[in-house]
Amino acid sequence: MSSYEILTPGRVEQFKRDGYLVIPKFLSDEQVNGLLKRSKELLQEFDLEDHPMTRFTTGEENDEKKHVGDDYFLTSGDKIRFFFEVDAFGPDGKLNRPKGLSVNKMGHALHELDPAFRAVTLQNDQLKKIARDLNFHKDPAVLQSMVIFKQPSIGGEVSEHNDSTFLYSDPPSALGFWFALEKCTAENGALGFVPGSHLTIPITKRFVRLPKGGTGFEQLRDLYQLPSKGDYKLVTCDAGDLLLIHGSVMHKSEKNLSLKTRYAYTFHMIESAPHAKWDEKNWLQPTSSMPFSKLFSASSDASS
Ligand code: FE2
Repeated sequence: MSSYEILTPGRVEQFKRDGYLVIPKFLSDEQVNGLLKRSKELLQEFDLEDHPMTRFTTGEENDEKKHVGDDYFLTSGDKIRFFFEVDAFGPDGKLNRPKGLSVNKMGHALHELDPAFRAVTLQNDQLKKIARDLNFHKDPAVLQSMVIFKQPSIGGEVSEHNDSTFLYSDPPSALGFWFALEKCTAENGALGFVPGSHLTIPITKRFVRLPKGGTGFEQLRDLYQLPSKGDYKLVTCDAGDLLLIHGSVMHKSEKNLSLKTRYAYTFHMIESAPHAKWDEKNWLQPTSSMPFSKLFSASSDASS
């Protein structure tokens, strides 16, 4: 299937209207199985010995157990690091299950550092074609790649948010690419969206590095009327499906209480300068060894 057939004008209109779009079977079974295999290998290979046991949460609670604003997180933009499920720890502070079933997500430079993930991201002509056809960015940069594991029984909920809060540019330009690597259902934490909310709900705050260290939220404007629970539409999908997510659309996912994992690979694109400004307050910063990855100038040659 050519990407022209994938991203028909009707689908582009649907994305503009709803703020999200499912593209069924974007990844082949072979690609999905390759990413699943690599994800499991990376989970097995990482060492607990020197790990700070950082939990991942998007909550705003000032709970010591839920802090994300430590060095391990803030310096992970050009590495592959591992963040635990909040409920993977017992009262003694130790993991209460095998590490492979304890990690919430790994990131945030899979797209640069791991050949399997690089192949479906920066070296993927179909993806470049989609980015061109969607015409969301003039010069898209790829960042914050991660695998979200959403572990059985304990996979943490992600409370309602829009992605430009966490990846803020001026003007806002985040666009999420989210690939289901397994079937996503109401039971294992499929995503829910408020269709059209990218057009009606502004970005009211941004996630920033705080001057005193760590991270927090900076209020940009008055709080806005948030959607009600009934406004959310559950989007179930199959392994290989791609979800495009507008940076302003409200979305969330519930806790995974099922006995099945819900592996997904995701990254974001933002607009590059001079079309949009990315400032030093953002948690994720380009480094001298790894500037942001320009999609259109990235070589599709796997040997490069
Ligand atoms: Fe999100």
